[in-house]
Amino acid sequence: MNELDAITAAAKQAFAQAATPAELENVKAQFLGKSGRMTELMKGLAALSVEEKKSRGAAINLAKQAIEAALTDRRQALADAELQAQLQLEALDVSLPGRQRPGGGLHPVSLTLERIEGIFGSMGFEVADGPEIETDWFNFTALNTPENHPARSMHDTFYVEGGHVLRTHTSPMQIRHAVQHVKRHRALIDAGGAMPEIRVIAPGRTYRVDSDATHSPMFHQCEGLWIGENVSFKDLKVVFTDFCRTFFESSDLVLRFRPSFFPFTEPSAEIDIQFQNGPLAGRWLEVAGSGQVHPNVVRNMGLDPEKYIGFAFGMGPDRLTMLRYGVNDLRLFFDGDIRFLSQFQ
Ligand code: DAH
Repeated sequence: MNELDAITAAAKQAFAQAATPAELENVKAQFLGKSGRMTELMKGLAALSVEEKKSRGAAINLAKQAIEAALTDRRQALADAELQAQLQLEALDVSLPGRQRPGGGLHPVSLTLERIEGIFGSMGFEVADGPEIETDWFNFTALNTPENHPARSMHDTFYVEGGHVLRTHTSPMQIRHAVQHVKRHRALIDAGGAMPEIRVIAPGRTYRVDSDATHSPMFHQCEGLWIGENVSFKDLKVVFTDFCRTFFESSDLVLRFRPSFFPFTEPSAEIDIQFQNGPLAGRWLEVAGSGQVHPNVVRNMGLDPEKYIGFAFGMGPDRLTMLRYGVNDLRLFFDGDIRFLSQFQ
């Protein structure tokens, strides 16, 4: 091997052994730098004759080109390796399943309340909201249930300071809402004009001392009230039948109005429904209390019972939720077990 070939081979080997770009640049200097081996050889040309310069110069140049080409290749290889290492370091394993964020949702009873509001809303009912800590007046007395009335014993409840109670039903909202309505239209009413009808539902939490599979100390009710100059029991039947059939998406659902007693209505009826199909087919299930609003209650609303008449009802959304989803223990709704509740999303 001649000298030039030997230098070229040495350069290639040295380049191959350089492990980093910085090392490679150092090694390059040994061959191509100012006092590198190739530069020394070029300097040696000065001592040669013209003829020799030509051929020797050409040979040196060839060797130099080969070394430079090897250097470029090695530079590229090192840069590629560095990029690969970087890529590997930053690699994302996109085959791993993502971390899921469980989505929240509404409580099944809230879903029922929304449904009730939607259906009655489509029939022109307003939605009213009221306090859960209630006065004796609104919870009992104004509803024709004075102190010591035997009907109070059915509403065993939680008393709080100052003679207030945790409301035992949503019926106090009948009075609260009607009084506001009447106040707004007082001038018109006094002038003998036609008061806009009261048509409202009032869903919310209610409380009684009760606890078993179908009763919870905290439960929900939804009150309904329709008062006008010409609202009859027939309207109650139509509205409530329509509501139940829409709620249960069952056009052949049968309703039964069973005579009953409530101090605030006369006559009064309990409303039972009967499914024609499905697991509950044939059974009568009570879903609401109802009746024609008692004249004393109409009077407590600030209206003349000789002129204004209407109906009211109170239903249990918890019960409707149980029926709709086939749940047989009411307490499950309020235990707060996410495994149970998430099934309704
Ligand atoms: N408030 C009654 C209860 O909790 C239910 C009820 C019955 C409401 C008849 C009414 C009604 O508005 O007219 O048992």
